[in-house]
Amino acid sequence: SNILVLNGPNLNLLGTRQPDVYGRETLSIIEANCIKYGETRGALVSCLQSNHEGALIDAIHAAKSDQQGIILNAGAYTHTSIALMDAIASVELPCVEVHLSNIHAREAFRHVSYISKVAIGQICGFGSRGYILAIDALVAHLDMCDD
Ligand code: DQA
Repeated sequence: SNILVLNGPNLNLLGTRQPDVYGRETLSIIEANCIKYGETRGALVSCLQSNHEGALIDAIHAAKSDQQGIILNAGAYTHTSIALMDAIASVELPCVEVHLSNIHAREAFRHVSYISKVAIGQICGFGSRGYILAIDALVAHLDMCDD
C-alpha cells in the first residue's frame, strides 16, 4: 500500500526547534526512517512537509488518487484547522494522527485536536518513534480492511 506521511508548520525545523520538547532528530532523518520502515512492512511511504495550510489541504486532496492512507502531524494546525479536518473527511482515507510531544500533558490549548475527530487514532508522546508506530497501526488497519 501507499502511505503519505504529511507534516505541517514548523516541523521542517525539527532537530533545532525546542529539542527538549521535540527531540534532536531532523525531519529528513525521520522521513528516511519512515520510508525504510515502510519497506519492511510492504508499504511505499511518500513524505511531504509544508508550513502552509492550503498546501497541506492540496496534498490531502492529491493523496486520494494514489495513496491508501495518511499519517498526519499537523503541528499547531491540529488545534485550529477545521479546513484540514474537513480535507481528511473529504478524501475518506484512513488517517493516523501523530505528535512528537504528549499534547495532553502540555498547555490546555494543545489538548484539543480537530484532526482527532476524523482520524482512526492518535499517537502522541513517543517522539519520532510515533511515526513508526503510526505506520504499524495504519498498515494493520489497511490489512484488516482488505480481508
Ligand atoms: C506537535 C504538537 C503541536 O502542539 C505543536 O504546535 C507542534 C508539534 C508535536 O508533534 O508534538 O508544532 O504537533
